[in-house]
Amino acid sequence: KKVVLAYSGGLDTSIILKWLQSELRAEVVTFTADLGQGDELEPARKKAEMMGAKSVYVEDLREEFIRDFVFPMFRANALYEGVYLLGTSIARPLISKRLVEIAAEEGADAIAHGATGKGNDQVRFELSAYALNPDIRVIAPWRDWTLKSRTDLIEFAEKHQIPIPKDKRGEAPFSVDANMLHSSSEGKVLEDPAEEPPEDVYQRTLSPEAAPDEATIVEIEFEKGDPVALNGKSMSPATLFQALNDYGRDNGIGRIDLVENRFVGMKSRGVYETPGGTILIAAHRAIESITLDRGAAHLKDELMPRYAELIYNGFWFSPEREMLQAAIDHSQADVEGRVRLKLYKGNVIVIGRESKKSLYSDALVTFEDDRGAYDQKDAAGFIRLNALRLRTLAARKRG
Ligand code: ARG
Ligand code: SIN
Repeated sequence: KKVVLAYSGGLDTSIILKWLQSELRAEVVTFTADLGQGDELEPARKKAEMMGAKSVYVEDLREEFIRDFVFPMFRANALYEGVYLLGTSIARPLISKRLVEIAAEEGADAIAHGATGKGNDQVRFELSAYALNPDIRVIAPWRDWTLKSRTDLIEFAEKHQIPIPKDKRGEAPFSVDANMLHSSSEGKVLEDPAEEPPEDVYQRTLSPEAAPDEATIVEIEFEKGDPVALNGKSMSPATLFQALNDYGRDNGIGRIDLVENRFVGMKSRGVYETPGGTILIAAHRAIESITLDRGAAHLKDELMPRYAELIYNGFWFSPEREMLQAAIDHSQADVEGRVRLKLYKGNVIVIGRESKKSLYSDALVTFEDDRGAYDQKDAAGFIRLNALRLRTLAARKRG
């Protein structure tokens, strides 16, 4: 039996690696992706080799992640339940895609992941994997093993000589997932949604209070709905996104504290940091505001919650997500130009936008003499016909 494991190098997935070998008698291939989470990856490689992994894959997927997953999602202005920028949700399909591909290369018939049986991530990993290979087997040790508590896990690790970081001996303070788009913290000290998160939960943003008293101005250029240049400099997707993260971090931008509805049914409290993403979504809406027609823009906004929910629920590789994506991408053909933003103590303030494809017409909107561009008399009939049914209703009510 051969299994490809999504391996972070941390304690939990190291225990899973050992468990697959010792309890399932499986040969384990590990896969560690660099999605910009900021961890050193060489230690994960060494650890996997030391623990007897059959092959060890460590791959830098940052450009693919931003170009083929994050940017398409931002073309939709996707937000789950109005606030969550889907930082964890959008990373899962890419990890699953590589797991399934590596399984094919290695002649493995199963993949394994370290998500628990209580969350969204298991659903996302597995729906993605089955969509790409209907015969793949999935092993989710958290749902299967008899290790019931942190103490059981530590005992298992000690028995198998898995090094345990000092801070993991006691109760882990909270559970973290990170990539270039966001970092998320859930559980433990965060489980009471009435309590403010302690400052040490935040890892990639200054607090707004600690951010500089001077505003920072940035300019983002878009083509076909994607950012292509920052402050006049063309950059690759991941380079540009990282630069936005740096601006966001320094200015205390992108902290959110929310209670969300998990796909499996319960509410959970999450504390997320999405510095670059928070700047990008504001900038993207600003460039759309001058380049998108009202009908297209409003239809996009109607479709958006559905699109976001599909990503949240793990249906990235589904015909309905692809249909929506085709419509969204089509709408972006003329979404190009430049947006200027002011970043100040947690705020992203749009201060200018311009485009060769702009639909904004000062001739039409001006309160000064418009030289016949718009005939105000037309508005009288427009209002009369729109009022017709309202007047009929009002007359009936009056009796
Ligand atoms: N609640 C968020 C989501 O469902 C974040 C999940 C974090 N995952 C993790 N393994 N810590 O997308
Ligand atoms: C997990 O349960 O593994 C993390 C939380 C989630 O997937 O929602």
